[in-house]
Amino acid sequence: MDLPQLPLIDTFGRSHNNLRISVTDRCNIRCFYCMPAENVQFMDRADLLTYEEIERFVRLVVPLGVNKLRLTGGEPLVRKDLHRLVAALAQIDGIEDIGITTNGILLADQAADLYAAGLRRLNVSLDALNAEKFKQITRREGYEKVLEGIAAAEQAGFQQIKINAVSVRGLTEEELIPFGHFARQTGHEVRFIEYMPLDADNAWERDKVLFAQEIIDLISAGIRPLVPVPNSDPRAPAVDYQFDDGIGQIGFIASISRPFCENCNRFRITADGKLRNCLFSLEETDLRGLLRNHAPDEIIQQAVRDSIDAKWEGHEINTARFIQPNRPMYSIGG
Ligand code: 5AD
Ligand code: SF4
Repeated sequence: MDLPQLPLIDTFGRSHNNLRISVTDRCNIRCFYCMPAENVQFMDRADLLTYEEIERFVRLVVPLGVNKLRLTGGEPLVRKDLHRLVAALAQIDGIEDIGITTNGILLADQAADLYAAGLRRLNVSLDALNAEKFKQITRREGYEKVLEGIAAAEQAGFQQIKINAVSVRGLTEEELIPFGHFARQTGHEVRFIEYMPLDADNAWERDKVLFAQEIIDLISAGIRPLVPVPNSDPRAPAVDYQFDDGIGQIGFIASISRPFCENCNRFRITADGKLRNCLFSLEETDLRGLLRNHAPDEIIQQAVRDSIDAKWEGHEINTARFIQPNRPMYSIGG
């Protein structure tokens, strides 16, 4: 029996139990806030961590307190047989919770396999409830496919489906009321995410961020009042609201107007096996090198500890010191 080990607590007292794993940087659409329009330089396939490498890594961090996983991309469902990875990770003792964040385009084909593999939590990214606005944002067709994907996931048995909608000033205001009705009709939580400076085109500006409070006010005026969900976890990144009649839940990931760094419990690995202690970190650790050089377990665990130890207090988007990381969102993993 292995000795219990110290949990991953950083110098600000934050405990890290939540690992986000990017499985590919490829994507079948081109959201403007994430990817360039054309000529994306994708990683070489040989540089991606294999499912076996990912599984070994997860087994090594479970004794350090990791019990929650999320698979991301790029678009995770473009990676071949993703359900195989889900099944392998779901079998690891100590992993209590696995989620996927997907754009939903391939979900209709894969929802049943993913559910059977043990996946229970799905976040589907969808920024607009009409085909034209969808195309304007994603620079591709696919709106109907996403809706079919959500329906297939419901059919397959998923009960925790959340819709992630990035909100952008001057672009997505008209979507707010339709999403409010959508949340009420489907029972799926809609989460508005403030636009963050992680786009490939470096076009982010503070003026383009549509703030959570403005969305709350607009939806409350247009449908009926939104009130905070009682007893919701104050440490969670999403702040949850519901309509005052109890029907329909709306969440906010307000990274800009209400940063949640203080309670952050996350770290991540990129598809090419770099360990990052923050979405916005400027440094990373080469985990793939360690895995491929057959580094002993303790060396890999120490590399994780060192990375967590070096974690900053928080992102500095709201300061003049902020430097946008040179990896855009699709290459970090959402
Ligand atoms: N700002 C905010 N959210 C983003 N996402 C991708 N890029 C950005 C950005 N620049 C979201 C996606 C998806 C999740 C992985 O992150 O829409 O829901
Ligand atoms: Fe693809 Fe997600 Fe990036 Fe959109 S946000 S381009 S769906 S990886």
